[in-house]
Amino acid sequence: MNAPAIVLIGPMGAGKSSVGKRVAKLLELPYTDTDTVVVTAHGPIERIFTEHGEAHFRALEREAVSTGLARGGIVSLGGGAVLDADTQHDLAAHRVVLLTVEPRIVAARVRGSKRPLLSGDDAIARWTEIYRERLPVYERLADVTYDTSTGPIQSVVDAIADWA
Ligand code: S3P
Repeated sequence: MNAPAIVLIGPMGAGKSSVGKRVAKLLELPYTDTDTVVVTAHGPIERIFTEHGEAHFRALEREAVSTGLARGGIVSLGGGAVLDADTQHDLAAHRVVLLTVEPRIVAARVRGSKRPLLSGDDAIARWTEIYRERLPVYERLADVTYDTSTGPIQSVVDAIADWA
């Protein structure tokens, strides 16, 4: 098998893409963002949700996760990708970083975003509910956890690069 990938998991707005991209650059490793893989191949996530439903998106996302893990390096997963049983199984062979963020901080980060699960006025209530549901899964899968709520993002990037 290839070397284990470093996989970033966590809720929407935790900074998985921003951090992942920077860690990959710093360590000179390939970078995969599963949302980007899906969007590049199939178009905008909102449209996939509207036209084909969330289950279809999850199937496409699962393929993107497999692609990223096979490629190795740094892989950022969409917030809900860890709900897939095969993904949970596969992550055991990789090094998993959980990024967390406080709700009061996430509000600004996801405002006006194109995330279908956060459309509408009650986005933060919904975010909190989803986060509570998923937290046990995130915590079970994670080898290490960093909070991105305060301080420069670069400090989390450096910490992950040191840990890796
Ligand atoms: C989702 C998170 C999004 C994206 C989709 C669904 C989720 O990715 O995959 O909108 O279920 O948490 P980010 O975590 O990168 O925002």
